[in-house]
Amino acid sequence: MKPAPVLKATNLSVGYDGQPVLRNLSFEVRPREIFAILGGSGSGKTTILKTLIGILPPLAGDLEIAGVSMTRSSPDRWAHVSRSLGVLFQTGALLADLTLAENVMLPIRAQTELPESTARILACLKLSQVGLADAESRFPNEISGGMRKRAGVARAMALDPPILVLDEPSSGLDPVTAAELDELVLGLRRDLGITVLLVTHDLASTFAVADRCILIDREVAGIRAEGVPARLRDEHPDPAVRAFFRREPPRPDGLKKGGPRGE
Ligand SMILES: Nc1ncnc2c1ncn2[C@@H]1O[C@H](COP(=O)(O)OP(=O)(O)OP(=O)(O)O)[C@@H](O)[C@H]1O
Ligand SMILES: [Mg+2]
Repeated sequence: MKPAPVLKATNLSVGYDGQPVLRNLSFEVRPREIFAILGGSGSGKTTILKTLIGILPPLAGDLEIAGVSMTRSSPDRWAHVSRSLGVLFQTGALLADLTLAENVMLPIRAQTELPESTARILACLKLSQVGLADAESRFPNEISGGMRKRAGVARAMALDPPILVLDEPSSGLDPVTAAELDELVLGLRRDLGITVLLVTHDLASTFAVADRCILIDREVAGIRAEGVPARLRDEHPDPAVRAFFRREPPRPDGLKKGGPRGE
Protein backbone atom coordinates (compact mmCIF):
# COMPACT_ATOMS: atom_id res chain seq x y z
CA MET A 1 0.00 0.00 0.00
CA LYS A 2 1.24 3.48 -0.85
CA PRO A 3 2.01 5.54 2.29
CA ALA A 4 -0.35 8.45 2.92
CA PRO A 5 1.02 11.67 1.42
CA VAL A 6 2.53 14.23 3.79
CA LEU A 7 1.45 16.98 1.47
CA LYS A 8 -1.29 16.91 -1.10
CA ALA A 9 -2.55 19.59 -3.49
CA THR A 10 -5.93 19.06 -5.15
CA ASN A 11 -6.99 21.30 -8.05
CA LEU A 12 -5.07 24.11 -6.43
CA SER A 13 -5.03 27.47 -8.20
CA VAL A 14 -2.48 30.03 -7.10
CA GLY A 15 -1.98 33.65 -8.03
CA TYR A 16 -2.32 37.26 -6.97
CA ASP A 17 -5.32 39.57 -6.60
CA GLY A 18 -7.71 36.98 -7.99
CA GLN A 19 -5.57 36.48 -11.13
CA PRO A 20 -4.30 32.90 -11.38
CA VAL A 21 -0.66 32.24 -12.24
CA LEU A 22 -1.21 28.45 -12.21
CA ARG A 23 -4.44 26.45 -12.17
CA ASN A 24 -5.61 22.99 -11.22
CA LEU A 25 -2.41 21.81 -9.61
CA SER A 26 -2.75 18.32 -8.19
CA PHE A 27 0.21 16.48 -6.74
CA GLU A 28 1.24 14.42 -3.73
CA VAL A 29 4.47 14.37 -1.77
CA ARG A 30 5.10 11.12 0.06
CA PRO A 31 6.98 10.60 3.34
CA ARG A 32 10.80 10.76 3.01
CA GLU A 33 10.52 11.75 -0.59
CA ILE A 34 12.64 14.47 -2.20
CA PHE A 35 10.09 16.07 -4.49
CA ALA A 36 11.04 18.85 -6.88
CA ILE A 37 8.86 21.58 -8.30
CA LEU A 38 10.58 22.56 -11.51
CA GLY A 39 9.89 25.29 -14.00
CA GLY A 40 11.44 28.16 -15.87
CA SER A 41 11.98 31.58 -14.36
CA GLY A 42 8.67 33.29 -13.66
CA SER A 43 6.68 30.08 -14.10
CA GLY A 44 5.21 30.33 -10.61
CA LYS A 45 7.36 28.10 -8.40
CA THR A 46 7.71 30.59 -5.58
CA THR A 47 4.02 31.43 -5.90
CA ILE A 48 3.14 27.77 -5.22
CA LEU A 49 5.48 27.78 -2.28
CA LYS A 50 3.95 30.93 -0.79
CA THR A 51 0.56 29.23 -0.95
CA LEU A 52 1.87 26.00 0.58
CA ILE A 53 3.31 27.80 3.56
CA GLY A 54 0.20 29.92 4.07
CA ILE A 55 1.36 33.43 3.18
CA LEU A 56 -0.66 33.58 -0.05
CA PRO A 57 -4.25 32.26 0.05
CA PRO A 58 -5.16 29.81 -2.71
CA LEU A 59 -7.60 31.05 -5.37
CA ALA A 60 -9.25 27.62 -5.58
CA GLY A 61 -8.74 24.00 -4.62
CA ASP A 62 -7.39 22.44 -1.47
CA LEU A 63 -4.18 21.60 0.24
CA GLU A 64 -3.57 18.92 2.86
CA ILE A 65 -0.62 18.61 5.19
CA ALA A 66 -0.42 15.35 7.15
CA GLY A 67 -4.05 14.65 6.28
CA VAL A 68 -5.34 18.02 7.53
CA SER A 69 -7.24 20.02 4.91
CA MET A 70 -6.72 23.75 4.58
CA THR A 71 -10.30 24.43 3.52
CA ARG A 72 -11.90 22.15 6.09
CA SER A 73 -9.93 23.15 9.18
CA SER A 74 -9.96 26.24 11.35
CA PRO A 75 -7.33 28.92 10.69
CA ASP A 76 -5.70 28.06 14.04
CA ARG A 77 -5.46 24.37 13.24
CA TRP A 78 -4.09 25.15 9.80
CA ALA A 79 -1.54 27.59 11.21
CA HIS A 80 -0.39 24.83 13.56
CA VAL A 81 -0.15 22.23 10.79
CA SER A 82 1.69 24.51 8.41
CA ARG A 83 4.43 24.81 11.01
CA SER A 84 5.49 21.33 9.95
CA LEU A 85 7.06 23.02 6.92
CA GLY A 86 10.52 24.45 7.56
CA VAL A 87 11.31 26.93 4.83
CA LEU A 88 14.46 28.26 3.23
CA PHE A 89 13.24 31.20 1.14
CA GLN A 90 14.74 32.06 -2.21
CA THR A 91 15.90 35.40 -0.89
CA GLY A 92 16.60 33.53 2.38
CA ALA A 93 18.76 36.26 3.80
CA LEU A 94 20.20 35.79 7.23
CA LEU A 95 20.11 38.87 9.42
CA ALA A 96 23.49 40.51 8.98
CA ASP A 97 23.92 41.80 12.51
CA LEU A 98 23.20 38.46 14.17
CA THR A 99 25.62 35.55 14.44
CA LEU A 100 24.72 32.28 12.76
CA ALA A 101 23.61 30.82 16.10
CA GLU A 102 21.42 33.85 16.76
CA ASN A 103 19.91 33.59 13.28
CA VAL A 104 18.99 29.95 13.87
CA MET A 105 17.60 30.85 17.30
CA LEU A 106 15.09 33.29 15.76
CA PRO A 107 12.33 30.76 15.01
CA ILE A 108 13.03 28.92 18.27
CA ARG A 109 12.55 32.17 20.21
CA ALA A 110 9.47 33.11 18.19
CA GLN A 111 7.65 29.83 18.52
CA THR A 112 8.74 28.27 21.80
CA GLU A 113 9.15 29.29 25.43
CA LEU A 114 12.52 27.58 25.72
CA PRO A 115 15.12 29.34 27.87
CA GLU A 116 17.87 31.19 26.02
CA SER A 117 20.55 28.65 26.90
CA THR A 118 18.49 25.72 25.56
CA ALA A 119 17.63 27.63 22.39
CA ARG A 120 21.34 28.28 21.85
CA ILE A 121 22.22 24.60 22.32
CA LEU A 122 19.51 23.63 19.84
CA ALA A 123 20.75 26.22 17.34
CA CYS A 124 24.32 24.92 17.60
CA LEU A 125 23.07 21.37 17.11
CA LYS A 126 21.26 22.43 13.93
CA LEU A 127 24.37 24.20 12.68
CA SER A 128 26.43 21.07 13.28
CA GLN A 129 23.85 19.01 11.35
CA VAL A 130 24.58 21.15 8.29
CA GLY A 131 28.36 21.01 8.72
CA LEU A 132 28.78 24.39 10.47
CA ALA A 133 29.74 23.16 13.93
CA ASP A 134 32.53 25.71 14.37
CA ALA A 135 30.85 28.68 12.76
CA GLU A 136 28.16 29.54 15.30
CA SER A 137 29.75 32.85 16.34
CA ARG A 138 30.46 34.03 12.83
CA PHE A 139 28.43 36.74 11.15
CA PRO A 140 26.85 36.12 7.73
CA ASN A 141 29.27 38.45 5.93
CA GLU A 142 32.22 36.48 7.33
CA ILE A 143 31.29 33.23 5.59
CA SER A 144 30.94 31.96 2.01
CA GLY A 145 27.72 31.81 0.00
CA GLY A 146 27.58 28.03 0.38
CA MET A 147 27.94 28.34 4.15
CA ARG A 148 25.16 30.96 4.22
CA LYS A 149 22.84 28.53 2.41
CA ARG A 150 23.71 25.84 4.95
CA ALA A 151 22.99 28.24 7.79
CA GLY A 152 19.64 29.00 6.11
CA VAL A 153 18.91 25.27 6.02
CA ALA A 154 19.81 25.05 9.73
CA ARG A 155 17.36 27.89 10.46
CA ALA A 156 14.64 26.18 8.40
CA MET A 157 15.23 23.02 10.46
CA ALA A 158 15.33 24.81 13.80
CA LEU A 159 11.99 23.43 15.01
CA ASP A 160 12.51 19.93 13.57
CA PRO A 161 9.93 20.25 10.80
CA PRO A 162 9.03 16.94 9.16
CA ILE A 163 9.02 18.71 5.78
CA LEU A 164 11.87 20.89 4.61
CA VAL A 165 11.02 23.33 1.83
CA LEU A 166 13.93 24.78 -0.13
CA ASP A 167 13.36 27.53 -2.71
CA GLU A 168 16.23 27.63 -5.22
CA PRO A 169 18.86 26.54 -2.68
CA SER A 170 21.61 26.30 -5.30
CA SER A 171 21.09 29.72 -6.89
CA GLY A 172 24.25 31.79 -6.82
CA LEU A 173 26.46 28.82 -5.92
CA ASP A 174 29.23 27.37 -8.07
CA PRO A 175 28.58 23.81 -9.30
CA VAL A 176 30.85 22.18 -6.71
CA THR A 177 29.27 24.05 -3.79
CA ALA A 178 25.83 23.33 -5.23
CA ALA A 179 26.71 19.62 -5.38
CA GLU A 180 27.80 19.77 -1.73
CA LEU A 181 24.41 21.22 -0.86
CA ASP A 182 22.77 18.32 -2.76
CA GLU A 183 24.80 15.93 -0.57
CA LEU A 184 23.59 17.77 2.51
CA VAL A 185 19.95 17.39 1.44
CA LEU A 186 20.42 13.68 0.74
CA GLY A 187 22.16 13.26 4.10
CA LEU A 188 19.37 15.03 6.00
CA ARG A 189 16.79 12.76 4.41
CA ARG A 190 18.89 9.67 5.14
CA ASP A 191 19.79 10.56 8.73
CA LEU A 192 16.67 12.40 9.89
CA GLY A 193 14.02 10.86 7.66
CA ILE A 194 12.69 14.23 6.58
CA THR A 195 10.66 14.91 3.46
CA VAL A 196 12.06 17.57 1.17
CA LEU A 197 10.19 19.82 -1.22
CA LEU A 198 12.72 21.36 -3.54
CA VAL A 199 11.73 24.32 -5.67
CA THR A 200 14.28 24.79 -8.39
CA HIS A 201 15.26 25.31 -11.98
CA ASP A 202 18.60 23.59 -11.42
CA LEU A 203 18.51 20.40 -13.46
CA ALA A 204 21.80 19.03 -12.13
CA SER A 205 20.43 19.23 -8.60
CA THR A 206 17.13 17.72 -9.68
CA PHE A 207 18.79 14.70 -11.27
CA ALA A 208 21.10 14.33 -8.26
CA VAL A 209 18.52 14.37 -5.51
CA ALA A 210 14.87 14.34 -6.61
CA ASP A 211 12.89 11.10 -6.51
CA ARG A 212 10.02 12.68 -8.41
CA CYS A 213 9.12 16.08 -9.74
CA ILE A 214 6.49 18.16 -11.41
CA LEU A 215 7.33 20.50 -14.26
CA ILE A 216 5.17 23.60 -14.22
CA ASP A 217 4.69 25.76 -17.26
CA ARG A 218 3.08 29.17 -17.79
CA GLU A 219 2.02 28.16 -21.29
CA VAL A 220 -0.39 25.58 -19.89
CA ALA A 221 -0.80 27.53 -16.63
CA GLY A 222 -0.28 24.32 -14.73
CA ILE A 223 1.60 21.03 -14.52
CA ARG A 224 3.12 19.95 -17.81
CA ALA A 225 4.71 16.72 -16.62
CA GLU A 226 5.12 14.64 -13.49
CA GLY A 227 7.39 11.74 -12.67
CA VAL A 228 10.97 10.58 -12.18
CA PRO A 229 13.27 13.26 -13.65
CA ALA A 230 15.45 10.91 -15.75
CA ARG A 231 12.38 9.21 -17.18
CA LEU A 232 10.80 12.53 -18.12
CA ARG A 233 14.05 13.42 -19.89
CA ASP A 234 14.29 10.13 -21.77
CA GLU A 235 10.75 8.89 -22.22
CA HIS A 236 8.17 11.66 -21.94
CA PRO A 237 5.95 11.79 -25.04
CA ASP A 238 6.00 15.62 -25.16
CA PRO A 239 9.19 16.77 -26.94
CA ALA A 240 9.08 20.11 -25.13
CA VAL A 241 9.28 18.23 -21.82
CA ARG A 242 12.22 16.13 -22.97
CA ALA A 243 13.89 19.30 -24.29
CA PHE A 244 13.48 21.05 -20.93
CA PHE A 245 15.16 18.15 -19.12
CA ARG A 246 17.96 18.06 -21.70
CA ARG A 247 18.47 21.82 -21.46
CA GLU A 248 17.63 22.22 -25.10
CA PRO A 249 15.62 25.21 -26.26
CA PRO A 250 12.10 24.08 -27.23
CA ARG A 251 11.51 24.19 -30.99
CA PRO A 252 8.07 25.47 -31.93
CA ASP A 253 7.78 23.34 -35.07
CA GLY A 254 9.06 20.36 -33.07
CA LEU A 255 6.11 20.76 -30.77
CA LYS A 256 3.60 20.84 -33.65
CA LYS A 257 5.09 17.84 -35.39
CA GLY A 258 5.37 15.97 -32.14
CA GLY A 259 8.88 14.84 -33.02
CA PRO A 260 11.87 15.37 -30.75
CA ARG A 261 14.72 17.70 -31.70
CA GLY A 262 16.84 16.43 -34.50
CA GLU A 263 14.29 13.94 -35.74
N1 LIG B 1 3.60 39.77 -5.27
C1 LIG B 1 3.25 39.57 -6.54
N2 LIG B 1 2.18 40.19 -7.08
C2 LIG B 1 1.80 39.99 -8.37
N3 LIG B 1 2.44 39.15 -9.22
C3 LIG B 1 3.51 38.49 -8.74
C4 LIG B 1 3.96 38.65 -7.38
N4 LIG B 1 5.06 37.85 -7.19
C5 LIG B 1 5.26 37.24 -8.37
N5 LIG B 1 4.34 37.60 -9.29
C6 LIG B 1 4.23 37.11 -10.67
O1 LIG B 1 3.90 35.73 -10.65
C7 LIG B 1 4.59 35.03 -11.68
C8 LIG B 1 5.36 33.87 -11.09
O2 LIG B 1 6.37 34.36 -10.22
P1 LIG B 1 7.21 33.41 -9.26
O3 LIG B 1 8.05 34.29 -8.41
O4 LIG B 1 6.30 32.46 -8.59
O5 LIG B 1 8.11 32.62 -10.33
P2 LIG B 1 9.29 31.60 -10.10
O6 LIG B 1 8.96 30.38 -10.89
O7 LIG B 1 9.56 31.41 -8.64
O8 LIG B 1 10.52 32.35 -10.81
P3 LIG B 1 12.10 32.30 -10.46
O9 LIG B 1 12.62 31.03 -11.04
O10 LIG B 1 12.63 33.51 -11.20
O11 LIG B 1 12.25 32.39 -8.98
C9 LIG B 1 5.47 36.07 -12.38
O12 LIG B 1 4.82 36.48 -13.55
C10 LIG B 1 5.57 37.18 -11.39
O13 LIG B 1 5.73 38.41 -12.03
MG1 LIG C 1 11.15 31.78 -7.43
